[in-house]
Amino acid sequence: MTSPAPTPQELLKIAIEVARDAAGTAHRMRTEGVSVAATKSTVTDVVTAADRAVERQVLDALATLRPDDSVLGEEYGGAAAGGPGSGVRWIVDPIDGTVNYLYGLPHSAVSLAAEVDGTVVAGVVRNISTGDEWTATAGGGAWRGGTRLRCSTETDLGQALVATGFGYDPRRRAHQARVVADLIPHVRDIRRLGAAAIDLCYAAEGRVDAYYEKGLAAWDLAAGGLVAHEAGLRVDGLRGVPAGPDMVVAAPPALFEPLHARLADLDASGGP
Ligand code: IPD
Ligand code: CA
Repeated sequence: MTSPAPTPQELLKIAIEVARDAAGTAHRMRTEGVSVAATKSTVTDVVTAADRAVERQVLDALATLRPDDSVLGEEYGGAAAGGPGSGVRWIVDPIDGTVNYLYGLPHSAVSLAAEVDGTVVAGVVRNISTGDEWTATAGGGAWRGGTRLRCSTETDLGQALVATGFGYDPRRRAHQARVVADLIPHVRDIRRLGAAAIDLCYAAEGRVDAYYEKGLAAWDLAAGGLVAHEAGLRVDGLRGVPAGPDMVVAAPPALFEPLHARLADLDASGGP
């Protein structure tokens, strides 16, 4: 007999418990000192011992709490896939904002989301330094503490504070820099804070008006994307393509079209 599918709220409860413990470990390891353990796609794409230890802790916790689920993580990929398949897949970035973490900048997070049959239904993003925690369930809204989040009501792109990020590949960065150079005259200003999951949560609470980035992986987007969507932002790609590796645009409904038009015009999803 198969057990009934867990509700988004049940999955969120587990996600919060696991993410809090994980963030605690990351915080402790940071106070003990941190150094680069390896590089990944390029020499600036670093992994610390904490990235690996925190993801291992998350995998172990989920294996205990939800042994039949599978897991996709940034450091260990899908290798940690679990039992026969419950329809639930967890998506974890143990440390989003690894470069901030390395330098001691208080802007990195554990990001953990749960998908049911391919749709993200629950997510939590927890700032490792400050303990700020954003959560969402599909249809249940986005929250920070007891406060329900609503995105910015800005309607003028020229007044919008727009967050973005850059990938690790130098050729991609050059393209992204050209896009941002052409966009900045048309917005209030640009922010590059260094952790995509937090950027999306900031957009959810109106600390920035909108966010876009090319090159996000599933673990960068899953939890923060749900938080942003549940706070009222439209989260999409360019030209009808869903949000994904080519482009993520998260903007309040009134800003989405003008920002989309600028980004499409600048071929922001193109290039390397
Ligand atoms: C990175 C951060 C950064 C974004 C990059 C991501 P990582 O994730 O979210 O803000 O611009 O695209 O790869 O490497 O710190 O987990
Ligand atoms: Ca990461």
